[in-house]
Amino acid sequence: MSKNNIYIETYGCQMNLADTEIVMGILKNNGYEITQNAEDANVILINTCSVRDNAEQRIYGRLGNFKTLKTEKPGLVVGILGCMAERLKKDLIEEKKIVDLVVGPDEYRRLPEYLNVAFNGEKGIGVKLSRTETYDDITPYREDGLQAWLSVMRGCDKFCTYCVVPFTRGRERSRSLDSIVEEIKVLSKRGFREVTLLGQNVNSYNDNGSDFADLLSACAAVDPKMRIRFTTSHPQDLSDKLLYTIAGKENICNYIHLPVQSGSNRILKLMNRTYTIEHYMGLIEKAKKIIPDVSFSTDIIAGFPGETLEDHLMTLEVMRQVRYDGAYMFKYSPREGTKAYKMEDDVPEETKVKRLSEIIDLQQKISHELNQSLIGKEEIVLVEGFSRKSIEFLSGRTDSNKVAIFPRSEKIKEGSYVKVRINGATSGTLFADVVEVYPETGENLHLTA
Ligand code: 5AD
Ligand code: SF4
Repeated sequence: MSKNNIYIETYGCQMNLADTEIVMGILKNNGYEITQNAEDANVILINTCSVRDNAEQRIYGRLGNFKTLKTEKPGLVVGILGCMAERLKKDLIEEKKIVDLVVGPDEYRRLPEYLNVAFNGEKGIGVKLSRTETYDDITPYREDGLQAWLSVMRGCDKFCTYCVVPFTRGRERSRSLDSIVEEIKVLSKRGFREVTLLGQNVNSYNDNGSDFADLLSACAAVDPKMRIRFTTSHPQDLSDKLLYTIAGKENICNYIHLPVQSGSNRILKLMNRTYTIEHYMGLIEKAKKIIPDVSFSTDIIAGFPGETLEDHLMTLEVMRQVRYDGAYMFKYSPREGTKAYKMEDDVPEETKVKRLSEIIDLQQKISHELNQSLIGKEEIVLVEGFSRKSIEFLSGRTDSNKVAIFPRSEKIKEGSYVKVRINGATSGTLFADVVEVYPETGENLHLTA
């Protein structure tokens, strides 16, 4: 076994997945090897999430599992990266004796140093936040594949009152447009077919006057066969220019993740979301006009402090009006240090559970109806591989990120595009027949049906 075997587990958002690849890039450059097996490792790192309490509880559970390994192998270094490291800092080391290393999201460059500290039997702590760190010059380590995550900005300045992210990831800063485009060129050459640009609020991207629409255009121009997705958009900053850019480029997916959080203006104000439902609905209408096939997804929080039944019903009403393709739905979880933490968490647990389940049931119904309405329609699918249930079927995703299952054929290769006709649908999956297989190469791929 190599002395420098690292095992990393990642929790939380896509940003953390992208950060783990940056961490692996840094460690590989410093002579470390990545192993897929915790038992083979002499360093175990957990890239963590603090956004809700249950995310943190899962990590504590995982630390419990690793305790056994550490007892068997006393030299094993266990480290916490990411938002929990930043939030709890040295408390983590004091409370959890098995933790040797605590490194926050802006200190990954110094991980090799902190690891050396830990190898010497001391505790390594790096939790300074930075106003400038973007890891611009670090090449993330990625296995070959079709889809890549790429963070284009870090941090968040929005300070929604429930959210811990501005405290754990610090101030907003953008990576340079040129380095992002260069990275996409490399990914294209390696055969990647889809890139998702990531940021807590991509719409405030700014690189010396280039805004997010400019960045999207530049990324889409790299390779017409490469799909470009992005997340997350804050409803306050979604510009017309961005909508026209999405509409104007075939390979930018017509899909916008636009978290509404609540349907009540009173609650939005308490959340410091800085828009009204009227503004939000106006944006949705405008986006539908400018991008005819656009679909939306959202984030919703049930049971924010002070949320009444009336507020909750307003959230359900917005869901009915927008008809989201998908939603990430959560129970409010108080986070220490945020403004909302000081508000009384006055919605009883059983009410939160009930409201959340009503929200989930409604979304399920809407997703089912939307998918049913696609029956008979044609969609372009990026082929990802065999379906999970049978090797007689292939699976891929549509422009609006829906999973489609269709019969296998020798002509269809992983990473190619096919046109399919939908013949059946559940709330989570489309079933389809293949209409046309596009050639593997050739610049003139039509990405719209
Ligand atoms: N409680 C519940 N959900 C939260 N989110 C962020 N903070 C909290 C919290 N304290 C949700 C929001 C955000 C998503 C990433 O997580 O909906 O958009
Ligand atoms: Fe958190 Fe709001 Fe920033 Fe999103 S926009 S990361 S919810 S503070």
